[in-house]
Amino acid sequence: MKAVLFEKHGGPEVLHLAEVPDPTAGPGEVAVDIHAASVNAADYKVRQGGGAYSGSGVRLPHILGRDFSGVVSAVGPDVADLDVGDAVFGVCDQGVEGAYAEKIAIKAAIIAKKPVRLGHAEAAAMALTSLTALWALEDTAKLKPGETILIQGGGGGVAGFAIQLARHIGATVITTASAHNHDYVRQLGAARVIDYNQEDFSKVVADCDVVFDTVGGDVQVRSYAVLKPGGRLVWIAPAPTGFEPIRRDVHVLRPGVARDRPHLERMLALFEAGAVSPPAITRYKLADAAEAHRVSESRHLQGKLVFQIR
Ligand SMILES: NC(=O)c1ccc[n+]([C@@H]2O[C@H](COP(=O)([O-])OP(=O)(O)OC[C@H]3O[C@@H](n4cnc5c(N)ncnc54)[C@H](OP(=O)(O)O)[C@@H]3O)[C@@H](O)[C@H]2O)c1
Repeated sequence: MKAVLFEKHGGPEVLHLAEVPDPTAGPGEVAVDIHAASVNAADYKVRQGGGAYSGSGVRLPHILGRDFSGVVSAVGPDVADLDVGDAVFGVCDQGVEGAYAEKIAIKAAIIAKKPVRLGHAEAAAMALTSLTALWALEDTAKLKPGETILIQGGGGGVAGFAIQLARHIGATVITTASAHNHDYVRQLGAARVIDYNQEDFSKVVADCDVVFDTVGGDVQVRSYAVLKPGGRLVWIAPAPTGFEPIRRDVHVLRPGVARDRPHLERMLALFEAGAVSPPAITRYKLADAAEAHRVSESRHLQGKLVFQIR
């Protein structure tokens, strides 16, 4: 099969299409012909190496890619609930990658069947983003109707799902985005949008019950100022190294984002109910992985970047 490999850490140019052996389905696993795989912000960080990813144990050459949608091509021993020909989608286990490829082998228990109404590109785009947003807002923040949430970085993948989910829960959603993303995040359900290039959100927002930080760095440091006493700061992108929380009267929480079928099925239920829709998608070929990474790494995309593989 063909896959996008890199043999040393570095810029997007280290990514190249190569022929590699097909994966085989071991016990409890299925092999999947991948139709679409998505680009996540973590991918360029792994490719670059260093920082939080220096000790991640990536052995080179390496195939990136954490989520995908495709069709089961082989079933390993001890798999009773999936068959060859089933359309499925999912997220690789923590510490495992390999979706920038024509095929993948993965534990059957952590993937879900894909309904016909959801395309492969859309399912790949919504897999890790929805899992992360569900763990963050439902399981971790326990967001409630009537609460106010500030979602940092509304134009991005995880935040775009989170805006829709928060609105569905019945919260009032404030988000930060560049001007080019304002119509997009309003259409997702944001009641108020702050252009972070023009205004300091920490000066114009106050009394939030929850902040969901998908941007990190200085944005997280300034997020403390907008929380009510007792509020919750849920983060998936880190604060600056060495930063110590500046308030003791708020809860600082990091979701675990375990991979499992129930969260994927929860996303499907929300989709079927019309509560969430797929994000804006920009499609690439696997051969254009370097270009997709340049866009991802620029940190100013809209929605999701997806490899259309079949
Ligand atoms: N399990 C986990 O913990 C987990 C899972 C998934 C993701 N993550 C992490 O979460 C973060 C977000 O991931 P993602 O894939 O959703 O990212 P993404 O799609 O690449 O998000 C990029 C977005 O960030 C926005 N942005 C950049 N700087 C900003 C700022 N200063 N203020 C507000 N918005 C800003 C950009 O919006 P504009 O164009 O409008 O500027 C762009 O739309 C990454 O750090 C990723 O590694 C963690």
